[in-house]
Amino acid sequence: MAEPSAKIIDGSAIAGSITETVRAASDALTAAGIVPGLAVVLVGADPASEVYVRNKGRTAAALGFHSVQLNRPATISETELLALVEELNQDQAIHGILVQMPLPSHIDPSRIIEAIRPDKDVDGFHPINVGRLATGSRGTALVPCTPAGSMILIRHALGADIAGLRAVVIGRSNIVGKPVAQLLLQENCTVTIAHSRTRDLPGVVREADIVVAAVGRARLVRGDWIKPGATVIDVGMNRIPAPERGEGQTRLVGDVAFDEAALVAGWITPVPKGVGPMTIAMLMANTVTAASRIAGLPEPNF
Ligand code: GUN
Repeated sequence: MAEPSAKIIDGSAIAGSITETVRAASDALTAAGIVPGLAVVLVGADPASEVYVRNKGRTAAALGFHSVQLNRPATISETELLALVEELNQDQAIHGILVQMPLPSHIDPSRIIEAIRPDKDVDGFHPINVGRLATGSRGTALVPCTPAGSMILIRHALGADIAGLRAVVIGRSNIVGKPVAQLLLQENCTVTIAHSRTRDLPGVVREADIVVAAVGRARLVRGDWIKPGATVIDVGMNRIPAPERGEGQTRLVGDVAFDEAALVAGWITPVPKGVGPMTIAMLMANTVTAASRIAGLPEPNF
């Protein structure tokens, strides 16, 4: 059997080094009298969201942040949730606000996102931040965490100059697909956004020097879709049955058939320990960036 040719992009290690930069920035801010503050709001009790929110809070606390988790019942009204966001907007001890998605169906997520002060919007979902990213105002935008983390992984593999490379993003969500396409465009890649209606998706992906898979479909991208030597960033986190681990057990797989793609790609992220750890590291990075900007202090580089 062929040996995997791809080098593995170690998201855990790279996230660890980002976290060290965050820690240094957080220590410097704290010494200046500003403790970075992150508030994470969880509405309802979705088990996956509970895990994500707990991890965010734990990481923030471990970095010495003022870390607040606010749990509200799924029955909270939109008006009450808006009032909570406004309280956090006004709270001087809070520099980053994250309302965990998805929200219950009676709450309009865009109303909540648009209520968050853009300079505290550490998810980068507010239309002001989306617009700043689209117009190239990186110095004032807060950039969504998973796309920002994906770009750092690409830089790790290929270096800072990726101008002229062909990038194919699979998925067009506001959280990953669209912002990562903007970031690749800013780096002068030739960018294609593919999605569920794309014709000949394998043929489109075969053109790509950089593939970012963010569709949420387990092992959709097969090995023979990958151009030899391409860089593959797998944003997927799909839980599938794993009877080999015992009855009722599951495991996480990406949107890419890793074992196949690793035979062809130049660089590839694993799942888990690829993009996942970067998302949380970039949330911490965005929080110290927000705290620095609000205080009028120089911001760290990531
Ligand atoms: N739910 C899944 N991913 C995210 C994220 O990045 N931010 C928020 N707020 N909710 C999410």
